[in-house]
Formats: sequence, C-alpha cells, structure tokens
Amino acid sequence: MQSERSERSPEQAKRAEGRSPEQAKRAEGRSPERPKRAEGRSPERPKGVEAYKIAVIPGDGTGPEVMKEGLKCLKAVSDKCGFKYETAEYDLGGERYMKTKELVPDSVLKELAGFDAIYLGAIGHPDVKPGILEQGILLKLRFHFDQYINLRPVKLYPGVWTPLKDKGPEHIDFVVVRENTEGLYKGLGEFKNKGTKDEIALQISHNTRKGVERCVRFAFEYTRKRNKRKNLTLCGKTNVLTYAWDLWDRTFNEVAKEYNDVKTDYAHVDATCMWMVKNPEWFDVIVTDNMFGDIITDLGAMIQGGMGIAAGGNINPEGISMFEPIGGSAPKYTGKNVINPLAAICAGGMMLEYLGEEKAANMLEKSVMKVTGEKLKSLSAGKMGYSTSEVGDLVCSRLNLEFEERDL
Ligand code: IPM
Ligand code: MN
Repeated sequence: MQSERSERSPEQAKRAEGRSPEQAKRAEGRSPERPKRAEGRSPERPKGVEAYKIAVIPGDGTGPEVMKEGLKCLKAVSDKCGFKYETAEYDLGGERYMKTKELVPDSVLKELAGFDAIYLGAIGHPDVKPGILEQGILLKLRFHFDQYINLRPVKLYPGVWTPLKDKGPEHIDFVVVRENTEGLYKGLGEFKNKGTKDEIALQISHNTRKGVERCVRFAFEYTRKRNKRKNLTLCGKTNVLTYAWDLWDRTFNEVAKEYNDVKTDYAHVDATCMWMVKNPEWFDVIVTDNMFGDIITDLGAMIQGGMGIAAGGNINPEGISMFEPIGGSAPKYTGKNVINPLAAICAGGMMLEYLGEEKAANMLEKSVMKVTGEKLKSLSAGKMGYSTSEVGDLVCSRLNLEFEERDL
C-alpha cells in the first residue's frame, strides 16, 4: 500500500487525508476484488500518476447531449482541483440493441468491473418495447454490480420554481435512500392460467433480512454523516403489507439501537407523499424499499424543480457505483440542444463525492446553485433561456470564478 500511495501526485495524496476508510479505498481504486488499475494502465498514461477510471454510457435520446455537458464540467473541475481521471465510452442502449440484439454483453460487464465508477446518461428508446432496455441494461447493471442503494437527494436550489406554494430552499432539502436490488423489482412472479378468464399474475416482493439490513444501516450511517437534522424516516406500509414491512420495521428498530444520535420516525408511503407536499421540511433522510423509493423520488423530483435537476447514485459502497440523471431519455427533445443538463452535471458531482473528491463535488454544486440562482429562467427543456451546451458553459465559467474568488 505504501508504495502505491507514493505513486500519487502530492495533491491527490493530500486530499486522501481526512477521507473515510471506504472513500480512501475507492480513491485508491484498490478494492481487493478488483484488479489493480495500474495493471491495466494504457501506455500513454504518464507513469506514476493515478487516475480515476470512469466508464461513460451516454445511452439513448438526450443522454449523449447531457453527458457531454457533464463531462465538460468534470474536466473543468478536475483542472481546478488537480485530480486525474480517464474515461472510456460504451455504446450500450437502444441503437446498439436494434442493430445487434445485444443489451449488456458479458464481455462489457467484465470490462466495467475494472472501473472506479460508471457515469450513465439515459436508457430508453421509443422504437424498443418498454421494459427491454430498462430491465436488460439499467436494472441489469444495478443488480450485477450489487448497487444496493439508490441515493436520491431532493434539494431545491436557489432561484428554482417549485409547485409547492410558500416553500423555498429552506424547506426542501432531504435525501431518499431507496433499496435498489430487491422488493418488487427482483422480478419474481408467475402467470397462472395465462390468457384465460381465470388468469392470475403474481408479482412477488422479495425482501431478505440481509438486504434490508444493509440498506437500513447505510441510511443510518448516511444520516449521521450528513449531520443536518439527524432524523431518519422509515417509509413503508406496515398496515397492509404485513410480511415485508414487518421485516423492515423490525430491522429498522433493531439497527436504530446502535445509532442513539439519530432520531427516527415512521410514515406510511401514502402519508409520506402527503407530507412531501404539505411539509417537506419535516424530512431529513427517508429510507424505503425499491418500489416506494421509485415512486416517491419522482414526486421528489417535481418539488425540487423537475426532472432537469434530479440526480441519483446507484451505490455499492464496497464496489462499483453508477451515477445518472433520473429523468430518462426524453426522445422528443433529442438532438435539439434544449434539454437541461444540470441533472447529469449534478450526478457527476455525486460521483466525485463517492470517489472521495469532496472538495470538487462541493465546488461543482456551488456553481450549479449560482447558475440556477442567477442565470436560468426555468429548469424545463426549451425554457431555460439558454441551450443545453450554454448551460454547461455557464457552470464551467462559474466554477472558474469560484476558484478565483477562493484564491484571492
Ligand atoms: C428510475 C427508473 C427505473 C426504475 C426504470 C427505468 C427501470 O424509473 O430510475 O427510477 O424504476 O428504477
Ligand atoms: Mn423511476
């Protein structure tokens, strides 16, 4: 380890101090299960300098347009902060599927395992039957890399319109921790008497003690580390789904005993929707299952200003995580240079945080907040007052300013 550490640039070594052990491990890119990055290093890369390896999947629809801006901002912030990274692009998505019938070939899965993170644009193509790409690419990657947390911040940035009357940035700032590998999304079920009048379709919610516990534990740790109101809400449906939510409830209460500094409460999912609209300020961190998390984070995206700003991370704290804007491929805006790239840019910021580049992540978020606060007319596609690429440029120039002001 010592010799590996000394290969780093002094700045990278300095930043490594003060990281959590997990972050340090990720920043080193030395998880025991994965090959050392140095072994696969390309000859052009200057010897002796560590760089994060990032797999880029631009994907479908507007995915490539927003990723271009995300990568532009990544470059700008790396120039300023001094960390190094390299990218490799993968053409997974609808076009490749239509040409070759391939979704994610095994060879690609193997290659992806050698990266530090995956940065994804969007998956979903109007000419492919719904479900094929979503399950075959997006869910496939989440499950294959055991990205058991889907982390979705719901934060209203300055100057952003919210449909909630009388609510501002001081009221809307919470994070949803969505379980990301189990529940109804596991794909378990069957048809009985398919196609007859007596047809029955079963869709099973599969919850394991281990799966629930690791998610709940992550949520407690996250609430503690976030260090805001230190309040964790379990969002479920204990009054009706009495098997699954009994397990969740018991697990939550048992794990809670280890976190005396974190306050806990419980809300049914329907009530959670109600409070998210009426009193969003009550929430700090919410932990929930896969399906409920999927649903409440679309509501969350709306109250934070829309799909144009909502970012998420599919996280395996011990492995390879994948970061994405949660808005989808928006086919009708494709190629028009009108889609909002901020969600992709913010997803890049989350990726930096998880790689251990916290300062870079903060600077990027600050710059996005300045741009929403001072420049954009709206966060909706075509109504921003700027094109997609201009919004990327605005964030980059703001980043440069932030660093100049800081260095004065
Ligand atoms: C999301 C999406 C996906 C999900 C779909 C496309 C499979 O809605 O990321 O929220 O349900 O997780
Ligand atoms: Mn969704």
